[in-house]
Amino acid sequence: MRQLIAGNWKMNCLSAEAVALAKDVAAGAGDIQAELLVCPVALHVAAVAQALKGSTVAVGGQDCHQEAKGAHTGDIAAPMLADVGAAWVILGHSERRQNHGETDELVREKCLAAAAAGLTPIVCVGETEEQRVGGQETEVVGWQISGSLPKPFNGVIAYEPLWAIGTGRTATEQDVANMHAFIREELVRQFGEAGRGIRILYGGSVRPANAPGLLAVPEVAGALVGGASLNAADFLAIARAARSV
Ligand code: 13P
Repeated sequence: MRQLIAGNWKMNCLSAEAVALAKDVAAGAGDIQAELLVCPVALHVAAVAQALKGSTVAVGGQDCHQEAKGAHTGDIAAPMLADVGAAWVILGHSERRQNHGETDELVREKCLAAAAAGLTPIVCVGETEEQRVGGQETEVVGWQISGSLPKPFNGVIAYEPLWAIGTGRTATEQDVANMHAFIREELVRQFGEAGRGIRILYGGSVRPANAPGLLAVPEVAGALVGGASLNAADFLAIARAARSV
């Protein structure tokens, strides 16, 4: 299977910038073996999907509501993302968990909504610095996995240690290897054989310089890239470091 390189653009880019960035990624994607995905703000998903038509680059949202429609001012439903061209959706990102109080149970409901709309969820898990210093990182991630994933789960996991997000501090390859091995064990424990096929991405300050090392770690099936995905050349350089897994 090819590695998945996903760009989380977070709350960045005006519409023209989003379309230009998408076109630059598509223009350079021709020789890339990895599966490519970009996730703009919901407002730009339609325009970016249009700009990427005929390319190998997929589009996703960064969040969705747990219900398909209704009285939820300001929210975006999974079928709406799918309707305008999204195939994926990031769920339970730490910035949503921290800034919007999202719980594991809510993320699980959102996964069900995404699946019902035909979207593939990328569920983010990861510990805080305090939890890691306290030696609780596997316990925390284990709970997040059991609470956030519905059964069956047809999606991807992204391990994003909070202290590595936007900080320029990357987890060491050994940290990543240990956590990804733990996540695989947990998935097999919780999902049986099906748990072996769930892809596990790494996220947190992935850059062209550290991508070859991180993407070579066992059980790393790709990367969820924040800051570096806002520069097409950097994003493509990360994707060039991908391998078959
Ligand atoms: P950075 O790559 O900017 O650290 O962000 C990682 C992230 O949160 C991707 O979802």
